[in-house]
Amino acid sequence: MAFFGRNKAEAEETPLVLPKHVGIIMDGNGRWAKKRGLPRKAGHTEGARTFRKITRYCSEVGIKYLTVYAFSTENWKRPEDEVGALMKLFKSYLEEAISDFKDDDIVVRFIGDKSGFSPELRALMDENEECSRERDGMVLNIAMNYGSRDEIVRAVKSIAADVKSGALSEADITEQLISDRLYTAGQPDPDLIIRPSGEYRISNFMLWQSAYTEFVIMNKLWPDFQKSDLDEALRIYSQRNRRYGGV
Ligand code: FPP
Repeated sequence: MAFFGRNKAEAEETPLVLPKHVGIIMDGNGRWAKKRGLPRKAGHTEGARTFRKITRYCSEVGIKYLTVYAFSTENWKRPEDEVGALMKLFKSYLEEAISDFKDDDIVVRFIGDKSGFSPELRALMDENEECSRERDGMVLNIAMNYGSRDEIVRAVKSIAADVKSGALSEADITEQLISDRLYTAGQPDPDLIIRPSGEYRISNFMLWQSAYTEFVIMNKLWPDFQKSDLDEALRIYSQRNRRYGGV
């Protein structure tokens, strides 16, 4: 496991550069179900299993922050029964997650607009955050009712209110200040974003935070995604030469 699918000699030759923060766009659940003649919600159920497996694996290999895209601000446009099935899945998952990630010491956080969810789901989200707050393992951000443009608009409005009240001046507006007003305040920007399912799109995910992120697109539908696929993405990331606009 420690060599991410490489043999010892390969691992020694090129040391692995582990990303601190990984983002995953969990895409392809619908296509996975369609291929099997199943309803789309069956794909989401399988996707939730993959999510649990890969989250644990990220924590095991030493990733410090993992952000997964579970439900976007645009996903409400999906058919009512699919949205309903996803809400049910979130509920049953969040009930289990309270104890589920305890042994792995995983800190659970939600990014996105919680107010869009039912009071029951919101209470479960709060409970998950509350009971994992004191843990010191990997931070898992679950993006739910999350849209990056919406996140940026909220940041801008909060800064504008502070400028209006005199708490901030125009000169105080810096890149750092904007980062500090996002849901991910205090966390490092993602080093690597993985998108399974072969789509080359960012889909309103961490637009500000991903200015210098490395992207790895994989031709696997999310429910089929294995630990070995994460190993592969980490290997690809390791070989990238990050220059941040320099040479
Ligand atoms: C995108 O695939 C996936 C989603 C909109 C839902 C993701 C949710 C899960 C994986 C459930 C697990 C999450 C938690 C927190 C329990 P798609 O439906 O757009 O797939 P398609 O592009 O093949 O149609």
